[in-house]
Amino acid sequence: MPPLTALLFGGWKRRVCTPKLPTVFCISPTARRYAKAAVQYTLLCFVLIILVLWLGAEYEAFRIRRAESTLKFYQTDSVCGIIQLQNESETPLLIDTFENMTVAEAYPEPVTVAHCGDCGKCSNPHDVNIYDDTKNTLFDTTLTCGKRAFIWGRRTADKCMMENVGFTEPCNECWVENILCDLRYCIFTCIWYGLFNEANTGQDQKTLNPCTRCDELRCGPEFVTCAGVNRRRAGILSDIERDLKNEVCHEAAPNWWKDPVLQDKWKQQNHERGL
Ligand SMILES: *[C@@H]1O[C@H](CO)[C@@H](O)[C@H](O)[C@H]1NC(C)=O
Ligand SMILES: *[C@@H]1O[C@H](CO)[C@@H](O)[C@H](O)[C@H]1NC(C)=O
Repeated sequence: MPPLTALLFGGWKRRVCTPKLPTVFCISPTARRYAKAAVQYTLLCFVLIILVLWLGAEYEAFRIRRAESTLKFYQTDSVCGIIQLQNESETPLLIDTFENMTVAEAYPEPVTVAHCGDCGKCSNPHDVNIYDDTKNTLFDTTLTCGKRAFIWGRRTADKCMMENVGFTEPCNECWVENILCDLRYCIFTCIWYGLFNEANTGQDQKTLNPCTRCDELRCGPEFVTCAGVNRRRAGILSDIERDLKNEVCHEAAPNWWKDPVLQDKWKQQNHERGL
C-alpha cells in the first residue's frame, strides 16, 4: 500500500518516484494499482450490500402482501376482565377471559374490563400501567433494544427491555419474542426503510410505515396471543397512529390501571406468591 502521506499530499496521479521527490510524496505504480483496486472493491461491496438489502426487502414485501389482515384480533367479542374477589382470599384478583361484555357484566362479583380480546401475559395492572406511562417512548426503546439484539442476540434484548422498560417477566418475554420475530421476518424492510425513508416524516401519519406494517402483519398475531394486551386493545392511543374506529378498544374501563386499589391488590398478590 502507498504511504498515506503520499496519497494525501501528492495524490496518486502522476507522482512517480524520482530521485528528486522526497519519499513521503512518492507513490510507486504498484501501490497505485493497489489503491485503485481497494477503491473498486469498496464500491463493489457497497453495491452488493445495497442489492442484497433490496432483494431481501422485496422478498419480505412479497410475504407481507400475502399475510392475513390482523383486524380479527381487534374485533373479537371476548374481553379480558379483572375480578376483585370480595372474600379476602390469597388471590384478591382473578384475571380471566369472558366470552363477551354481557357475560362479563352478568358475573356475580365486580369485574373491571381490562381490554378487548383474550387475556395474556401482560394483562395486569403493572404492565398496562407501563404501556400507558411510556406510550410516547416505548416504540423507540423497543427499537433500540432491537438494534442491540440484532448484534448481540436474545439475552441482550431480554436484559435491555428489563432494564429500560420493567415489565413483569412473562410479559417481557412476549416483547422479546416480538423483537426476535421482527429480526427474522422484517429485518431487510426495516433497514431499507431506516436507510432511505426515515427522513420523510411529513407523510400521512395514518398509514404505517413498511417496517411497522411488517411487524403488525407478520409478528402481531403471535405477540397479541402471547401478551393478550397491546395498547390498542386497552384503548391507549400510542406513538404509532392506528385505525381508531376498527382497532382501538372502546369497551375497556378508562384508566383502570391507575386505580390504586387494583395496583395494591396486584402487588399484594404477587408478593404473596413470592414473585
Ligand atoms: C366467602 O368464602 C366463604 C368460605 O370460603 C364462602 O362460604 C362464601 O360463600 C364466600 N363468599 C363469597 C361472596 O364468595
Ligand atoms: C354472549 O355470550 C353468551 C354465551 O355464549 C350468548 O348467549 C350471548 O348471546 C352473547 N351475547 C352477545 C351480545 O353476543
